[in-house]
Amino acid sequence: MSRLYQPSDYVVSKSRLPSFEQYKEMHKRSLEDPEGFWSEIAKEFYWQTPAEPGNFVSYNFDINKGKVFTKWLDGAVTNVCFNLLDRNVRNGHGDKIAYYWEGNHPDDYSRITYRKLKDLVCQCANGLRERGVTKGDRVSIYMPMILETVVVMLACSRIGAVHSVVFAGFSSDSLAERMSDCKAKMLVTADGAWRGEKLLMLKKICDEAIDKAEKKHGHKVETCLVVKHVDRVTPCGQLQEYTTWDDERDVWWQELIDEQSTICSPEWMAAEDPLFMLYTSGSTGKPKGVLHTTAGYLLYATTTFRYVFDYQDKDVYWCTADVGWITGHTYVVYAPLANAATSVLFEGTPFYPENDRYWSLIDKYKVSQFYTAPTALRSLMKFGDEYVKRHSLQSLRVLGSVGEPINPEAWLWYRQLVGGGRCSVADTFWQTETGGHVLTSLPGATPMKPGAAGFPFFGVEPALLDEGGQLISGEGEGYLVFARPWPGLMRTLYGDHQRYEQVYFSKFPGYYCTGDGARRDEDGFLWVTGRVDDMLNVSGHLMSTAEVEGVLTEEPRVAEAAVVSRPHPIKGEALYCFITTTDGAHFDQSLVDALKKLVRARIGAFAVPDTIQYAPGLPKTRSGKIMRRILRKIALNDTDIGDTSTLADPAVVEQLFKNRP
Ligand code: WT7
Repeated sequence: MSRLYQPSDYVVSKSRLPSFEQYKEMHKRSLEDPEGFWSEIAKEFYWQTPAEPGNFVSYNFDINKGKVFTKWLDGAVTNVCFNLLDRNVRNGHGDKIAYYWEGNHPDDYSRITYRKLKDLVCQCANGLRERGVTKGDRVSIYMPMILETVVVMLACSRIGAVHSVVFAGFSSDSLAERMSDCKAKMLVTADGAWRGEKLLMLKKICDEAIDKAEKKHGHKVETCLVVKHVDRVTPCGQLQEYTTWDDERDVWWQELIDEQSTICSPEWMAAEDPLFMLYTSGSTGKPKGVLHTTAGYLLYATTTFRYVFDYQDKDVYWCTADVGWITGHTYVVYAPLANAATSVLFEGTPFYPENDRYWSLIDKYKVSQFYTAPTALRSLMKFGDEYVKRHSLQSLRVLGSVGEPINPEAWLWYRQLVGGGRCSVADTFWQTETGGHVLTSLPGATPMKPGAAGFPFFGVEPALLDEGGQLISGEGEGYLVFARPWPGLMRTLYGDHQRYEQVYFSKFPGYYCTGDGARRDEDGFLWVTGRVDDMLNVSGHLMSTAEVEGVLTEEPRVAEAAVVSRPHPIKGEALYCFITTTDGAHFDQSLVDALKKLVRARIGAFAVPDTIQYAPGLPKTRSGKIMRRILRKIALNDTDIGDTSTLADPAVVEQLFKNRP
């Protein structure tokens, strides 16, 4: 059985929650008295109108009893940006560093205090208002990891606009689709950004996306706000050459924002008013606009950050996630600022200028909490221990992991080599939809097992169900669901509440269904075993088989496509595609290249398949359903394929084993 690791004396001695018993007690209380539990935390914040007692949470998770909904602190009125900035400045944190910003190049860095950040956010908010952005408007953001990205997100929240950040690795097609779906009034971007030695031409991609939004989806973006970023340090004609400039539509950040007043009154928002939306992949292929609201999200982000990272006043915290993903929203922007924390914001990659960049930054900024993804750890492990050992990592106390199950080998490397054996590892399981951590270990409180996500966070009530919806108590494996809402749970899918109910609440009425499987072991640890739907997790990026198949079949030479995942030593999973061709079409390298190019253009570089295999036919049941279970075996070259009696044509399978590239 898997070994149990206890928090070290060092971690326990510093911890605000130093025992397992205390965790269990607090968790119990959070379920028995949610109002008592969360209203205590709510007291720290500024409320224009406080929540009414007795009306703290209401919800319906049972689709058979009517509309599914969740409300927290209904009736309360506040502003998230005000709580993150003005409140902290008033509480004496004005001179505290909010972010150490570290650019792609080690010579390019800066820092910003809470007071200065507040001034910039107010200027930006005034600029947005000048351009006609008001409460409820959507603003798309396609940005590198720079301070202006945080500034514009908070500026939106100050004026009640709903930001929709699109990861700057998505293609112009994806950006166009997302901007059109939410009818964004404004798009915010930068001229470009360096990532390692690669120049990303962000404004050029935005030009294409704005054009496609109009031509393909009939949506017109009124303003494109552009940060002069690359041009600031390395003026390069290259960018100008590739971009167009529309004087009506485009405006430089430096021209719109720099002269604005640093005073900006916040828009007072109802507890359940939208804060932001963020698209995530859906199994039908169409992205889902996950919507988070104001008060509950603020409480939940704050509390998870405080306990999961055990952040304390003098600590320096660093989350390496891009703000284009939920991890960046909650644990780069909202949660650290809500806790008046000092964070590192890093623009570059772990491999530039050398493979020790992460370790060198931990040393440079004396980072105490480091939060990254298993795929990053695995890609760094392969360079050997020397890169890590070059630097002093003594400042570290808590190590976080997120995005996919962490393999025990990477966990042990993380804890022993990076964490010097003294740090706690928090394997945080959560989703875009959950807003914050839902299963995790807590540094001073819970024991750990390499690869297990551990225990529910406060307010979270997990359950395992079998196919028939029966509860599995004690040890066992089943569908991972949650029996009640916590404050940070998403409230709806933007513009499609029916899909929200159908995707998350229809399979097991009364429960929020994660789409993941999990196992409870003899010690009560929860182990997330991976998706139980047609979703794939490549380097921590979730995508659906249908989404990739849809793109592959756009190519006229392709008749049918089936996509499965194959385990990959660094990415976790890699895409393996089977293609049947149309009459007369040849399967050759040019087709493979064309398909890879197409996926890059339609979705983004991170979705490009590792393998594309020719299939004379696909293994199907007599009713025509593709048997992905068998395709996964073929991808693995594992001939132990089990029962094939339901196949319409078993001969296909043998052919596919022979055709493996
Ligand atoms: C899916 C959610 C949560 C922020 C990043 C991903 C998988 C995530 C873990 C973990 C096992 C994990 C699940 C989940 N996942 N963290 N610690 N252990 N699996 O957000 O894109 O919404 O993906 O990522 O499959 O459902 P996302």
